[in-house]
Amino acid sequence: DDAGTSCAISLQSAPFVKNGPGAIVEQFDVIIIGAGAAGLFCAAQAGQRGLNVLLVDNGKKPGRKILMSGGGRCNFTNMYIEPAAYLSHNPHFCKSALARYTQWDFIELVAKHGIAYHEKTLGQLFCDDSAQQMVDLLVKECERGRVTLRLRTEVGAITRDDQGYRVSLNGTEVSARKLVVASGGLSMPGLGASPLGYKIAEQFGLSVFPTRAGLVPFTLHKPLLDQLQNLSGVALPATVEAEDGTLFKEALLFTHRGLSGPAILQISSYWLPGEQLAINLSPTTELGAFLTVQREAHPNLSLKNSLAKVLPKRLVEVLQTLAIVPDVTLKQLNAKQQSELVHTLHNWRVQPNGTEGYRTAEVTLGGVDTTQLSSKTMEARQVPGLYFIGEVVDVTGWLGGYNFQWAWSSAWACAQAL
Ligand code: FDA
Repeated sequence: DDAGTSCAISLQSAPFVKNGPGAIVEQFDVIIIGAGAAGLFCAAQAGQRGLNVLLVDNGKKPGRKILMSGGGRCNFTNMYIEPAAYLSHNPHFCKSALARYTQWDFIELVAKHGIAYHEKTLGQLFCDDSAQQMVDLLVKECERGRVTLRLRTEVGAITRDDQGYRVSLNGTEVSARKLVVASGGLSMPGLGASPLGYKIAEQFGLSVFPTRAGLVPFTLHKPLLDQLQNLSGVALPATVEAEDGTLFKEALLFTHRGLSGPAILQISSYWLPGEQLAINLSPTTELGAFLTVQREAHPNLSLKNSLAKVLPKRLVEVLQTLAIVPDVTLKQLNAKQQSELVHTLHNWRVQPNGTEGYRTAEVTLGGVDTTQLSSKTMEARQVPGLYFIGEVVDVTGWLGGYNFQWAWSSAWACAQAL
């Protein structure tokens, strides 16, 4: 549908200035590239502060990732936001923005728009109804700020002079004193992701950390995958630990490609190729003690049926076909067999083959080096008037609403300085 292509939000026409011989250039106070979470929120805030804002995006709808997020219900923030939940080469960078525009500020805005929400788990807040409500909120806030939104817009050459920035959009030049890059990361190229933001950073001399997929499922090597193929769809609580000692206790899901589920997505951001994971498949029941008690009470019960009291039955069956769970009764299980089994289940070592990559990743790790940005305003220190917000910056949150909160907080901090 073409409904989204016109600039539905524009309530204000931009002045045109003559700039260069014969050229008429449309002029704004601020151009924001990317109508995702960060760009929409920054545009709304800047517009409401009285600035004449142009917001552009290559897609036909604003906030495409928001619509997909949280299984269609958008996990828009988390009650337990803290800087420790963010990965960056410069872990202190996110603190200022997160403290100045907090989860409570955003929750207040959500409530003001009458959007009903609930905590799903671990402080994660979701819309009761639909992620569309979150996009509607942002679009309404943009309308209040009289933002000009242009969709299906391809960004071409960008130049800077003492007047500010000139940007070629679908072949036509526009100019502004300030330029905000909110073009996101590389994950989900099907939703419009592009490396534009990193290229703009490099054009203006900023360094960019290498990027990789984060919050992403793992693939497994063929032999292990073959062994585990009957487990596809089985989920269980687990703790998963990376080689750097980072550990998450959440659900783990076996898939037909490998491993997924919240615990796996979380740890994927801390994993580097070649590294192992240590997985505890029974994080709440110590299996040595459990089996000892079970042996006393039910000596003739099969080990398989005993373990199935605390682990998914299909998992125990597969472990038996792999001879990890011996086909014996509890009284037949000897001490050596028990200790090997307990060790394997509490400390399963897996070396993933890789990740599913940007195709299914929720976020992109790495990005614009924060040491070159002001943590208060997101402005490039050496390039006045150029700002980077949201996921394009080398700040990546955990699963659970942390990434949207970074988008809101960094956008808000930037908008105050425009
Ligand atoms: P975002 O990606 O939102 O926006 C960037 C915009 O720039 C896009 O609209 C894109 O089209 C545009 N753009 C890119 N290149 C361009 C170009 N060359 N020209 C013009 N426009 C261009 N996080 C969370 O906190 N809770 C959640 O529930 C989820 N769920 C979730 C599900 C899925 C499937 C994904 C992929 C991701 C999530 N996330 C999430 C992560 C979250 O979506 C992400 O961190 C934010 O959207 C980042 O906001 P940005 O505005 O920085 O980028």
